[in-house]
Amino acid sequence: MTVQTGTSARLGEDDIVPSIAAVMEGEGDPIANAANIAAILFEGLADINWAGFYFLRGGQLVLGPFQGRVACTRIDMGKGVCGTAARQCATIVVPDVHQFEGHIACDAASRSEIVVPIMRAGQVLGVIDIDSPHVARFTPAHAKLIEQVASLYVRACGDATP
Ligand code: SME
Repeated sequence: MTVQTGTSARLGEDDIVPSIAAVMEGEGDPIANAANIAAILFEGLADINWAGFYFLRGGQLVLGPFQGRVACTRIDMGKGVCGTAARQCATIVVPDVHQFEGHIACDAASRSEIVVPIMRAGQVLGVIDIDSPHVARFTPAHAKLIEQVASLYVRACGDATP
């Protein structure tokens, strides 16, 4: 599949993996790939208000490419949903962010969230974070989908560090 840039056709959820695979084909730059993934997720997932990356740098998660409103730049490991997922090296699906102790509210409209760690050779490189203004927006199927996106990203970027 070829990703057409500049077309008006909107992506749907089923287009996410093929579109990401296509746009990263032959491209190993970690920032360029993350930027396009954020755009594809933001367009392909209905009812979300933020999609993007945090990368682990010097023991903190630092904001990477994203789509949505301005977000906090740095998150300590173990803090918020992102820092917790990164520390645990595990996906976290939060049905209601108001019930997650320590949730960091970048956009007050966010009500549910999914965070997937980006893992390479047993090391966490960062996380993919997606927020929705709706409670319980994300299902276990979304967890599998975003985990697949994270592993495609790692494969495309090879040894390059974001
Ligand atoms: N809610 C996240 C912070 C990042 S923003 O949602 C973009 C957290 O609790 O880690």
